[in-house]
Amino acid sequence: MTSLLYLLTLIFGACFAGDIVINNKKFPENFLFGCATSSYQIEGGWDADGKGPNVWDNVTHEKTSFIIDGSNGDISCDSYHKYKEDILLLKEMGANFYRFSISWPRVLPTGFIDNINQPGVDYYKNLIKELKSNQIEPVITIYHNDLPQSIQDLGGIKNPEFINWFTAYARFCFETFGDDIRYWLTINEPYVACTVGFISLVYVDGIDDYICMKNMLMAHANAWHIYHDDLKGTGKVGIVLNSNWFEPETDSAEDLEASERTMQFIWGWLGHPLYHGDYPEIMKIRVANRSKLEGFNESRIQELTNAEIEYVKGTNDFFAFNSYTSSIVRSGPDAPIGTPSHNDDLGVYIYQPDEWRNSSLSWLKVTPWGMRKLLNWIKNEYSNPPMLISENGVADGPGQLNDTIRYNYIRDYLSNIRDAMEYDGANVIGYSYWALLDTFEWTAGYTAKFGLISVNFDDPARPRTRKMSSYYYEKIMKTKCLVD
Ligand code: NOJ
Repeated sequence: MTSLLYLLTLIFGACFAGDIVINNKKFPENFLFGCATSSYQIEGGWDADGKGPNVWDNVTHEKTSFIIDGSNGDISCDSYHKYKEDILLLKEMGANFYRFSISWPRVLPTGFIDNINQPGVDYYKNLIKELKSNQIEPVITIYHNDLPQSIQDLGGIKNPEFINWFTAYARFCFETFGDDIRYWLTINEPYVACTVGFISLVYVDGIDDYICMKNMLMAHANAWHIYHDDLKGTGKVGIVLNSNWFEPETDSAEDLEASERTMQFIWGWLGHPLYHGDYPEIMKIRVANRSKLEGFNESRIQELTNAEIEYVKGTNDFFAFNSYTSSIVRSGPDAPIGTPSHNDDLGVYIYQPDEWRNSSLSWLKVTPWGMRKLLNWIKNEYSNPPMLISENGVADGPGQLNDTIRYNYIRDYLSNIRDAMEYDGANVIGYSYWALLDTFEWTAGYTAKFGLISVNFDDPARPRTRKMSSYYYEKIMKTKCLVD
C-alpha cells in the first residue's frame, strides 16, 4: 500500500494520505531535506593520521567528570572509517543533502595553514566525492565547536586574533574543498560558544561574551568577503545562529516587550548586524546604561564602527539556524548591578513549564508551535530571507529503536514549518534533522540519543541500526510530503 501511495504522490505532485485522500502537506519540489552531524561528535579517529588535538580531546581526557558518563569522542561512531556506510544510509533514505563539519585540527593540526595534514584533507575530499557520486549535496560547516587546542592556548575565540586565524582556515577550506560546494556554513552556534563556555572551553562571562560574539561576527564576515570578493565563489555562505522561540507569559504589554527584547538580544545579537548593520537598538541602550552604572568608561557591548557596520551588513546569503524548543518569558525587575553579563543586561525571567512535552534532555521540551512563530519572527525582522533549518531534532534515552517520540516530533515540527510556508509565506528552503546518527552529545556524553540511526557504541565495529523514525523521515524526504 505504502508504495502505491508513494507512486501516486510522485505522479500527481500532491500528497496522498493513508485513505487516498489528498492532504495539503506538500513541500515544494525544490525544498531540500537532509540530515546533520558534526566532526567531533561522530568521526572518532581523534589522533589518526596526523590529526592535532582539539579542546574536546583534551578536556575529555583530562577531566572525565566534565562529561556525564565519563565518555569522549575518541572513537564515537567511527565515521572517520565508516563514512561510506553513513552515505549509503543517507542515500537509502533519500536525503537531498548532508550537513557535516570539517575538523579544523584534522586538516590543520596546529590550527595554522603552514602545517597541512594531507590525510585529513583527503578524508574530506573523499567524503565530498562519495556524497556527490550519490547525488547528495554536501553542506559544509567550517567550524563546529572543535577548536584546535593550539588556538585555545593562544586565548581562543576571545583573542581578537581569532578573526585572522579563522579567516585563514576558512580560506583554506574554500580553496581546498570549494569546487562546486553550494552551501557553506562558517560557524555553528556562536551564541552558545560565547555564552555557554563549556562548548568552547573559553569560560566567558561579562565583558568577554560581547568580545567573543564580536570576534565571531567579524570572523564570519571576513570569510564571506574572502569567498565572494577574492575567490569569486558561486555558492552561498551563511552562519548558523540558534536559540529558542521566546513566548510571552501573558498578553500584557510588559511581557510582550520582554519577549521581543529577548528575541532581539539573542537572535538579533548577530542577526541585526548581518541584516541591518548594527546591534539591536534596545541592546545597545541597555548594555550602555548598565555599563555606566557598573563603572565602565565605555559600553561593554563592543560598539561596531561605521566601517565595521558597512563590512558586516549583507554577509549572510541565507539564514541558517538551529532551533529545538521554546521558552516562556516574563518581564522581571532589572537584575541588580553585579557581575556584568548579557543575561543581566537582558533582565527577564525565562523558563519552561513542567507540563510541556518532555524529551530526555531537560532543556529540550517539545514545542512545535514555537517553530512557526520563530519562522514568522525571522521573516518579519529580516525581510523574509531564504531560511535553512540547519538543525532540529529530539533526544531520547538509549535503546529506543521504536522511537515514537522522534516520529511525533518530526511530524509536528514539519507540519508547523509547512504551515509557516503555506499560510504565512515564510521562505524556508530546507530542513536538516539533527542527527543522522546517535552521537557524542557534548557534556551529556552518549546518554542523549538524537539519531535517526542507532549506533552500538559497545561494539568495536560500531554497527548502525535504523530506527522507526528513519523510515518515516525517508517517506517524507522521498515524497516531499508529510504522509503517515
Ligand atoms: C546543537 C549543536 O550544534 C549540536 O552539536 C548538538 O549536538 C545539538 N544542538 C543537540 O544538542
